[in-house]
Amino acid sequence: MKSYKTLLEENRAWAEETFKKIDAKMSEMTIRSRDKIPDGVTEDGFHKEKSITWWTNGFWGGLNWLLYNYTKNENYMLTAKSSEKKMDEALAQYEKLHHDVGFMWHILSGASYQLTGDKDSRTRNLFAASTLMSRFVLDGGYIVAWNGKSQQNWTIIDCLMNLPLLYWASKELGDDRFKRVAMAHADMAIMDHLREDGSVVHIAEHDRETGEVVQTFGGQGSAVGSSWSRGQAWALYGFVISYIHTGEERYLNAAKQVANYFIANCCDDWLPRVDFRAPEEPVMYDTTAGACAACGLIELAKILPENEGGMYMNGAVNMLRAMEEKCCNFDPSNDHMLDYGTVRFPVDGDMKKAEVHISIIYGDYFFTEAILKLLGSEFFPW
Ligand code: GLY
Repeated sequence: MKSYKTLLEENRAWAEETFKKIDAKMSEMTIRSRDKIPDGVTEDGFHKEKSITWWTNGFWGGLNWLLYNYTKNENYMLTAKSSEKKMDEALAQYEKLHHDVGFMWHILSGASYQLTGDKDSRTRNLFAASTLMSRFVLDGGYIVAWNGKSQQNWTIIDCLMNLPLLYWASKELGDDRFKRVAMAHADMAIMDHLREDGSVVHIAEHDRETGEVVQTFGGQGSAVGSSWSRGQAWALYGFVISYIHTGEERYLNAAKQVANYFIANCCDDWLPRVDFRAPEEPVMYDTTAGACAACGLIELAKILPENEGGMYMNGAVNMLRAMEEKCCNFDPSNDHMLDYGTVRFPVDGDMKKAEVHISIIYGDYFFTEAILKLLGSEFFPW
């Protein structure tokens, strides 16, 4: 297996070319969609929007911060700032907020604060962190994902990606409360979501006092006991991020377990299916899972010894190349870039309702983040 560094060198020219195409497209899109907060799903080729408290609303601004940091094109900063301001309307709707405040603010306001030192961005991110803290169930030791009585003891694997908000708040305030809550939740995820074979459960319901799992759900995957690939990607990158912020080996080992499982399940054509345990037909892909997993794999490769890291880097590059070749639309005259994203497995067979093979903003976000990692960008928004 080639080392991480060799693979980085061998793929540099390709990554540079790919980034040029991203930038050419995004530099037009950023102006066209400046007054929107797109969730990435397009209608007739152009961005649509969801409600202001929708969980994906941080990705558009976050993507613009990634692009601004690398290119210094001011248009990207203007869009990111405009997006952040609009999101204040969401911050004011406490009862409609959920655990995804990390996705919504940390890569938006957290990134803004990191890159520009804007104090208002810092305050927004601290509000978001406090909101996430308020969802912690003390006895059970977990963060509740969604609202509503029937779901008040539910955890979902996606939440690992919201924990960086808490790691950040602890550091920023010099107060380890936030970090301890994040670690309690990450430990719960190892115990209750990570299976022995490296796959993960999407949704677990707990006993509120003991924290024990009462039942699990297939969630956005095909069935109970299945393996929704974006959930695997959230776990992969999420555990790597917890390791980066804490240095605790158990998170690194968990990330490696999920990474091995992920690679084993998509190494035929390097495009992840929506659910690794769904029937083979019909073939349904989810590129958003591949793009997020690629980010986690590259970070993993950077952490591990050179040769061990090579295996993970190889997986990341193969997935990104497959996506670039088969799933990307770089035509600047429309608003979708990474196609073949899928919101959920269509359990009832309704492909349209399940939003299968579409572009979704977090696909564009993670694809861009991954390509920038290959170009050596050190900016880490998580
Ligand atoms: N966090 C929700 C999703 O991945 O669709």
